[in-house]
Amino acid sequence: MKVFINKRIPEIGIHMLEKAGLEVFIPEHENLSHEEWLSYCKSHDVILNVGSEFKYDKDFFTECPNVKAIALYSVGFDHVDIKEANQRNIPIGNTPDVLSKATSDVAFLLMQSVARRASYNFGKVKDGNWGDFDPLHALGQELYGKTLGIFGLGRIGFEMAKKSKAAFDMNIIYHNRHKNEEAEKELDAAYVSFDELISQSDVLSIHANFIPEQKELFNSAVFEKMKENSIFINTARGGFHNQKDLYNALTEKKIWGAGLDVTNPEPIFKDDPILELSNVCVLPHIGSATIEARNGMAKLAAENLIAFSKGEKMPNCANP
Ligand code: DGY
Repeated sequence: MKVFINKRIPEIGIHMLEKAGLEVFIPEHENLSHEEWLSYCKSHDVILNVGSEFKYDKDFFTECPNVKAIALYSVGFDHVDIKEANQRNIPIGNTPDVLSKATSDVAFLLMQSVARRASYNFGKVKDGNWGDFDPLHALGQELYGKTLGIFGLGRIGFEMAKKSKAAFDMNIIYHNRHKNEEAEKELDAAYVSFDELISQSDVLSIHANFIPEQKELFNSAVFEKMKENSIFINTARGGFHNQKDLYNALTEKKIWGAGLDVTNPEPIFKDDPILELSNVCVLPHIGSATIEARNGMAKLAAENLIAFSKGEKMPNCANP
């Protein structure tokens, strides 16, 4: 079985695949054009996909009828048409759990960075503008006892809620497709309607799987209903928020600040005005960027393909 990997992953995954007898191909230069990527896909049975740049949609599956399985090097699978894959019996592996702690760490980091105005203060230091002690300047806000609203309380949302509860005794509310009994029991989390979530949260953090129906769900109508002191955190997918509306909400002081590890579009344009705001912290989608998480992802992706090569079900599969 020949595996095409579009970008080098940690050695542990490659080693596992080769040890299991799979033939691995990684192109020498990694910034593949769409045409290069497609032509490599056409000549391989299975794909280990890194990143969300390439879309596995109906056109892809029609053009690459030989592809029998795809292992994603990500937990998110919004770049794959799962329905189409199901119709063709193509398993789509993903990498849950191993990145939940790392990704929620970034949400937690952004929450604190925005609350304590880290980007603004770092900018001052870089500009040689340390300034005198000023009782009224650059004041942040404390998170102790505040309400954290989680949109999408799955594994990553749970970790974010757990940390926030432990560190700041935050009151946890959430909105989800299903109730999360574990979070209700362990963290005293309360299920609320979407409207209650947005109007009651001091910090609103998105941790849901992105689906097209929720494209730009967080827009001016939502920001309008949020608290003036609230902090908006998105570490899930940039498609969840309308960035222009977010910019307006921040400049018009409808909300207090925003922390983004994902942007819309992604990557963000260098001249996006949101980058100029002092109440914003933006990171370049580094949620899972730890040695531990990335090794774990490589292991899970390899396990998925090894299982497939033996005719077994992938242990972590995005298809129902
Ligand atoms: C994921 O695993 O979905 C991360 O966002 C990296 O793409």
